[in-house]
Amino acid sequence: MTLSAAEVHRLKQAPVVDGVLSAVLSRWSARSFADRDVSPSDLRKVFEAARWAASSNNEQPWRFLVGTRNSLTHKKIFSTLIGFNQGWAAAAPVLILGAASAKFAHNGSPNAYALYDLGAAAATLCLQAASLGLTTHSMAGFDQAAARQAFGIPEDYLLGAVIALGYQGEPSALGHEKLIAQETTPRTRKPLNEFVLSAWGEPAILG
Ligand SMILES: Cc1cc2nc3c(=O)[nH]c(=O)nc-3n(C[C@H](O)[C@H](O)[C@H](O)COP(=O)(O)O)c2cc1C
Repeated sequence: MTLSAAEVHRLKQAPVVDGVLSAVLSRWSARSFADRDVSPSDLRKVFEAARWAASSNNEQPWRFLVGTRNSLTHKKIFSTLIGFNQGWAAAAPVLILGAASAKFAHNGSPNAYALYDLGAAAATLCLQAASLGLTTHSMAGFDQAAARQAFGIPEDYLLGAVIALGYQGEPSALGHEKLIAQETTPRTRKPLNEFVLSAWGEPAILG
């Protein structure tokens, strides 16, 4: 029998580490979306959070194209997704496409940190969404050229990911056995000693 949405949400939580933000522990990427719209005020809040991310030279190079269900923007973003992602993201009430200016606005020189900054803004958006009880699911699986064309995105903007945003739905609504299995599997992560280092290849000693 398939687990309920509430059971899956519990199963996906990261183990509690005292002092770690609850939004960090509770954020996970659902593929099943409930048939419930995101209020305009909550949508504004997730972008307010993104707005306050740090960026190189405070350039804030990110741009977010946002489409709510049935809008032309939603349809356009959806049309660029690969088939696998279209299979589940059709139910997402909000689709967001992130882009970042590859040039500094103040002098036109290349900004090598544009995607880093976009990622920081996107991560902040996702954590704010989690704290509002929303789920986000990032996707690299979309056709960048088609997205550029659909929105007339200039060449000096780099594209990030598409983010599906909404409320978590019942896993059974995914319909497909493999998708349901992925939706109901606990999340895993590398241990800290694999990526927090004091010298290259040497784990840092942490408290
Ligand atoms: C940049 C990026 C691209 C991703 N692309 C896809 C995608 O195209 N399709 C998909 O189903 N999931 C995609 N994911 C979701 C990841 O598989 C997911 O974040 C990862 O398995 C960790 O799970 P969690 O977010 O629930 O912790 C992507 C995530 C990121 C950050």
